[in-house]
Amino acid sequence: MTYDVFSPGKLGDLELRNRVIKTATFEGMCPGGEVTEPLIEHHRAMAAGGVGMTTVAYCSVSPDGRTYGHQMVMRSEIVPGLRRLTDAVHAEGAAVALQLGHCGYFASKKVIGVRPLAPSKVFNLYGLSFGRPMTPDDMGRVADDFARSSDLAREAGFDAVELHYGHGYLLSQFLSPFTNRRTDEYGGSLDNRLRFPLEVLERVRQSVGPDYPVVVKMNLSDGFGRGLQPAEAVVVAQRLEAGGATALVLSGGFVSKTPLYMMRGNVPTWDMVRVQESWFRKVGLALFGRIFVQRYPFEELFFLRESLAVREAVDLPLVLIGGILSRAGLDRAMASGFDFVALGRALIYDDQFLHKLQRGDIERSACDQCNRCIAEMDAGGVRCPCAERFFEIG
Ligand SMILES: Cc1cc2nc3c(=O)[nH]c(=O)nc-3n(C[C@H](O)[C@H](O)[C@H](O)COP(=O)(O)O)c2cc1C
Repeated sequence: MTYDVFSPGKLGDLELRNRVIKTATFEGMCPGGEVTEPLIEHHRAMAAGGVGMTTVAYCSVSPDGRTYGHQMVMRSEIVPGLRRLTDAVHAEGAAVALQLGHCGYFASKKVIGVRPLAPSKVFNLYGLSFGRPMTPDDMGRVADDFARSSDLAREAGFDAVELHYGHGYLLSQFLSPFTNRRTDEYGGSLDNRLRFPLEVLERVRQSVGPDYPVVVKMNLSDGFGRGLQPAEAVVVAQRLEAGGATALVLSGGFVSKTPLYMMRGNVPTWDMVRVQESWFRKVGLALFGRIFVQRYPFEELFFLRESLAVREAVDLPLVLIGGILSRAGLDRAMASGFDFVALGRALIYDDQFLHKLQRGDIERSACDQCNRCIAEMDAGGVRCPCAERFFEIG
């Protein structure tokens, strides 16, 4: 069955007014981890732009799950601020999800004050530290943190939570043979590597009940030889479906190894150098950025092929992501059997993109994947510097 992308779609019992989701793109708008007016306005504007659902990016389930000091940590004190955000989005007719994650060994010891948690002792070049292999007690605590954070998200008015199982964050580190070198029942075979991620999902489900939408963002591939491979990802998707996920967002890449695999296009080295706070990092990036941050050529719907393999293997709703920029792209995603699409850069470029497509004013976004938005999220808040110039001139 092929859906019209502008027809209503269902995530469990939650009905979205259309099948377009604004994906999580880290906003960089939470100094001190607080909910701010710019964050609320950012998501209100996305909702006003016509998406079915917008996703608030990376909220850590605990203080030690942060990569940066300016990331939100889920706690009861921020629920009133989050409630203002969800009210603002609902008033524009859209739903809103909160992405919950733990970054594992990507955490900076300087930010969290202790050695970062990890499946195994693996060195993180970005944080310049080794992760501390997690004990069963650590795993129980983190699973509880995901469950408690999901409950608080619901209390704050979020219509869904999106659990981050991709991009090399903690649960992705467990799934990946590159970072999971454990010899106990949590490492080795794919079944074992899946054990902790599935325990987290089970705890969240127990906590929020059977009907609350729990979306999982997972990797189709880590993007390098020793990481999670596409054939394994199909099994991961099947096990997440059996474990109670409401829908899956199909992404890829591993921040510490293949950071631009999830986006493709230009490597904005000099913009990234500019926004680094420490001279050490500036020099490191300037000298070695080209080596550590590989370039992947961009093509529209760049995750379609691997996503189709998952489509054939599961029945739950699937969200196609990656380089969706045009009316033709939206239609092709629907015709390929996906239930929803998620868009990042097309909406950062222009939050009115969908209205313009629907009115027939444009056929495709003018985003050219310069990827300077990635640097902007560390320089006061995510935005597209090219679009601002374009609209000023236009
Ligand atoms: C500026 C920026 C920030 C991002 N931050 C996140 C994030 O916090 N969490 C996440 O899961 N993905 C993040 N991503 C990846 C996007 O969610 C998405 O997977 C990717 O951009 C591909 O979609 P697109 O081609 O529509 O932009 C980010 C992407 C960009 C461009």
